[in-house]
Amino acid sequence: MEVPQKVRGTQDWFGEQQRYYTFIKKVSRHIFRHFGFTRISTPIMEMRDLIVRSVGEHTDVVSKELYEFKDKKGRDLVLKPESTAGVMRSYLENFQNDPQPVYLFYIEPHFRYDRPQKGRYRQFHQLGAEIIGERDPVLDAENIHMAVKILQDCGVGEKFTLKINTLGNTKEREAYIAELQAFFRGKSHLLDEIDQARVEHNPLRLLDSKNPDVREILPYAPKLRDFFKKDSNEYYESVKSYLDLLGIKYEEDPTLVRGLDYYCDVVFECVDNSGRTQDAYCGGGRYDGLATSLGSKNPVPAVGFALGVERLIDSMVESGLYIINKDTIDLYFIQVGEEAKRIALPISVQAREMGLNVLASFGSPSMKTQLKKANQLKAKYVAIIGIMEARRGVCQLKNMEKGVQQEIKISELLDHMVEIVGEKNLDFYDPKKELLQGKKPEPIDPSAK
Ligand code: HAM
Repeated sequence: MEVPQKVRGTQDWFGEQQRYYTFIKKVSRHIFRHFGFTRISTPIMEMRDLIVRSVGEHTDVVSKELYEFKDKKGRDLVLKPESTAGVMRSYLENFQNDPQPVYLFYIEPHFRYDRPQKGRYRQFHQLGAEIIGERDPVLDAENIHMAVKILQDCGVGEKFTLKINTLGNTKEREAYIAELQAFFRGKSHLLDEIDQARVEHNPLRLLDSKNPDVREILPYAPKLRDFFKKDSNEYYESVKSYLDLLGIKYEEDPTLVRGLDYYCDVVFECVDNSGRTQDAYCGGGRYDGLATSLGSKNPVPAVGFALGVERLIDSMVESGLYIINKDTIDLYFIQVGEEAKRIALPISVQAREMGLNVLASFGSPSMKTQLKKANQLKAKYVAIIGIMEARRGVCQLKNMEKGVQQEIKISELLDHMVEIVGEKNLDFYDPKKELLQGKKPEPIDPSAK
């Protein structure tokens, strides 16, 4: 019988990958907290209808990439391909009476049945933010600022270009789409099957088509900007002026339309400069029409972004950026015989309470095998307790880097280790400091019901 393989397009994350993930989560959580955000996690499963009505039926995400299934009651469910739809659904249920706008962030796995390749997975992680309940160009600028700051703080600030565009409001876009369709319908002999379908169902995506024939005729196609009225133009100019005020560099790209239907007004992406295929680190923009398309009686303006964690990690690796490994073992116990084991067990517990990271080689046979393991695990120090040492109450303490060994009394071992490792390097976490018995913390999260 064969051992089952992992699902295509998914990855096991361990070791170095986890270190990058933890680092990126730390950096972004810190930034989000500074900007006044609180964390939300929406379910991995959503009703199919929510995603279709949010992202759009004819987008690639819905028409090709959904992981969809029926539950036992025959309900149509999906694994979430993105979180904006779920966060807005939750907002409508939980946050409408809170001070507006609400600032929410998430760090979540998502699922798209994409063709797997480097930077494109079927399960991938996004960290994202949504500012819901107000329309103000300064919020669009803050949204972009956060995305840029996360990339900068993760060390890839020089590796990407921020591209921005505006899609105007629904009315302007509809008028434009009608003209764009008319333009391309006259040229359908130049279009491949995918682009022919786009003309009918998703014409804006023709603007970022990869087909060279389409790219050649695009300069002659109608321009979205020509359909904007004063308000849309002013909104865009205003967002740009706030970006200028914050000193954020950007490129304007009139072909940037994004692949999800809910956007309006200003959209953006941060794209890698090195010419790789999966080049978008993150993307987002305003989506003022989403709430009403989900059935909200009142329009709810909103803006947000999401950043692909796997792509960011790839970029950090390519830039030679590594994360300090804190999963190191200070002290590794090697013991021979029952008597030694009975000494090593309680002293290893005591050592951890003193802030040392300790592993004991219980279960391993010979001293040689145990030493080999200590070496492979890169333990800094090894305490060897053989039969004779156990009887005499001592151990052989070996500095693995220098290869030197000294005999030391077991009763003095831990103080000695604390001295060597250094107080500031001890690994302490006291959960009691964060646990409040019977007393709600202030300020109380307004959405905590
Ligand atoms: P998105 O552009 O579809 O936007 O995804 C955001 C980021 O997720 C992409 O820039 C990319 O880095 C990453 N990503 C997408 N698909 C994959 C994949 N198959 N494998 C690896 N990484 C991937 C959204 O999802 C919107 N919800 C963003 C948003 C939030 N807009 C407003 N609020």
